[in-house]
Amino acid sequence: MQSLSKDQVLRITERYGNDPQQLIAVLLDIQAASGKNCVEKQWAELTANVLNVPLSKIYDVLTFYAMFSTEPRGEYVIEICKSTPCHFTRAEEVARWFEAAAGIKMGETTADGKLSLFHTSCVGACDIGPAVKIGDDVFGNLTEEKVKALVQCCREGKHLCQN
Ligand code: FES
Repeated sequence: MQSLSKDQVLRITERYGNDPQQLIAVLLDIQAASGKNCVEKQWAELTANVLNVPLSKIYDVLTFYAMFSTEPRGEYVIEICKSTPCHFTRAEEVARWFEAAAGIKMGETTADGKLSLFHTSCVGACDIGPAVKIGDDVFGNLTEEKVKALVQCCREGKHLCQN
């Protein structure tokens, strides 16, 4: 897995004029460039210094928004909805299908850094539950075959097509 350098982080903050108002955009770019799909502590600290904002504010942002992580995650973060409507449409079974297809347990990341599995709350697709969010895309009406196909697409880095 690639890792970020101090110079890369400084280039990102400079791209936003070292402007504290651009904090979320800066952190998103750092996370995207991290190769670990997260904002590590050293880069949170550097960002705090360069943008002249308290480190606590950086962590407020990193913990408030679900799109951020402070722990390494896979390139594809697979979030399985476990809110009540999806629960009644077999969300737990869907989690087991993803675990079997990916070869990891919920909360884990594959050794190649491609996939991470997490639970999440409602992703706004209750009418097509059970539902899953992968990156910015939501997939519903999941079957074991669809789950296998989605995991395969992630592994091969293919664009995830709606189905
Ligand atoms: S409850 Fe699962 S998408 Fe809404």
